[in-house]
Amino acid sequence: MKLNKVKGVGFSFVLLALLAAGCGAANQKMIDETQLSYRNVPLTDEKDVAPPPVEFTKAAPGTAQRFQRSYENAPPMIPHSVEGLLPITKDNNACLGCHLPSVAKSVGATPISPTHFKDFFAANKEKLQKFDGASKIHQGKDDIAPQRFNCSQCHAPQANVKPLVANKFKPEFRNPETKSKSTLLEQLNEGVQ
Ligand code: HEC
Ligand code: HEC
Repeated sequence: MKLNKVKGVGFSFVLLALLAAGCGAANQKMIDETQLSYRNVPLTDEKDVAPPPVEFTKAAPGTAQRFQRSYENAPPMIPHSVEGLLPITKDNNACLGCHLPSVAKSVGATPISPTHFKDFFAANKEKLQKFDGASKIHQGKDDIAPQRFNCSQCHAPQANVKPLVANKFKPEFRNPETKSKSTLLEQLNEGVQ
């Protein structure tokens, strides 16, 4: 008898729970298919699929304003126009024409980071300590580490657009100079010392 009673109570609980779940589903707000993507258009047709036109900065190299780094030792964004400079090919890397340490100063460009050169990767402690971006061994295109040759893989030109999703990330710069300068080599050296 007792057992039956308990069973009965259990059953009505399940029934109540099912009913409640059913009501919940009926009350749930339906999301229209036009709200399922960032485009806010029906997903089943190809109308309006092209994103709005984006205008990249037109300022020629030498006339642009550098951006603050996104976070400490982030790859700096390209502040100037890249018209005619891309794509980078095996035989033609226009970026090197201004950013190689041997020429950068004379055109007012930031020299390529010392971390981008071949011997950085092969460096022993002694070499690493002597290493600086302006050193004579970093003059030519052949000195660039192959994995750093395709500059635009990490450094991107910028356009003034309204982001679809706001970015709330706030970088912390332990040293204010890192807002506009890479200190990666120094930091790696700290580990070596
Ligand atoms: C004609 C010379 C020239 C060429 C070619 C050139 N740059 Fe620059 N670049 C500059 C100068 C000068 C600056 C500093 C901002 C300015 O004055 O426009 C700069 C700034 C930058 C910066 C920002 C550095 C910082 O400290 O914030 C990056 C990144 C960059 N260039 C990447 C590139 C890449 C990648 C290419 C090839 C697609 C390239 N540049 C081609 C001259 C050049
Ligand atoms: C694999 C990603 C990657 C590629 C490819 C790459 N960079 Fe960088 N670059 C970075 C990062 C990350 C930093 C900041 C940390 C550092 O110094 O390594 C940086 C830093 C720089 C800086 C700032 C140096 C300073 O002292 O503040 C310049 C200028 C630069 N890169 C130019 C270039 C050019 C020109 C090329 C192509 C020859 C290139 N980079 C290829 C990731 C990359």
